[in-house]
Amino acid sequence: MTHTDTHTSNTSPCPPNDQTILDHAQQALDDFVSRIQGVPYEDKGVFFSEMLFVLAAVGPGFDGQVLESGRARGQSTFVLGRIFPDSKIISVEFDRDSPDAPVAEARLKDFAHIELLYGDSRRLLFEKLQPRAVIIIDGPKGFRAIRLALQLLRTGKVKKVFIHDTYKGLPTRRFLERHVPGTLFSDHQPFVQQFKHLDAPCWDGFDTSQPLEWQPACPDLAGDPSYGPTFACLSHDPTISYGLILCRLNLMNFFARAGTSVTKKLRKRGGA
Ligand SMILES: C[S@@+](CC[C@H](N)C(=O)[O-])C[C@H]1O[C@@H](n2cnc3c(N)ncnc32)[C@H](O)[C@@H]1O
Repeated sequence: MTHTDTHTSNTSPCPPNDQTILDHAQQALDDFVSRIQGVPYEDKGVFFSEMLFVLAAVGPGFDGQVLESGRARGQSTFVLGRIFPDSKIISVEFDRDSPDAPVAEARLKDFAHIELLYGDSRRLLFEKLQPRAVIIIDGPKGFRAIRLALQLLRTGKVKKVFIHDTYKGLPTRRFLERHVPGTLFSDHQPFVQQFKHLDAPCWDGFDTSQPLEWQPACPDLAGDPSYGPTFACLSHDPTISYGLILCRLNLMNFFARAGTSVTKKLRKRGGA
């Protein structure tokens, strides 16, 4: 599959910064709260404050296409349905046989503007993509998610891509911070302080006496811990060569793999 940099920009001239997101979130808060009123939280789901981050980063009045990759029990899909009532939403889930699939189908059946698909989003999203689309990736994870995001941005059709599970301390987080200029994160402290109260129903299901995966015992995070799973927001920027960033990612993977195989050979020779 090849996707080229078309450099046909569809973004506003000023991509958002952390302050714009804070302002938009504050403006959208009352409406957001009324839209999620009584919505139960489902296991594996994206947090409510993270969904407010998505809404705020996209900005007011969005009615374009929303594509979701990774639905599971449909928590994020349900909230997307409520907060983007004027958008066509397409949600792709890989695992048709999961016990989560019927849960999501039942939960989402009353949303006329949500289409549920099964298959690999790494193929399906490109087939469905419309100009100005907003993409939410919550599966695949890790560098596969970053590769998918960069390939989508490279088409020039995408307004924004959100990648879930990009909390502090992860190699993927470091990669985004180093190589993708303008990436913003939902664990930005002022945002967390202002909006984490929305997540009370989410925390009920977690055993917070145990360290959570997004709170790694990472010394450099001591004064600035991660808050939750965390969304990264990548806004399309026509001045960025996503192809070049993809090359860096591929090179990095190549050297990581080569390093692993050399280590294995050395271990074998050493008899370990
Ligand atoms: C954490 S769950 C998604 C949770 C959901 N976004 C929510 O908020 O409730 C991740 C899901 O991504 C799905 N997934 C993984 N790789 C995928 C792919 N290539 N295409 C579509 N779905 C994928 C998995 O099967 C899993 O159900």
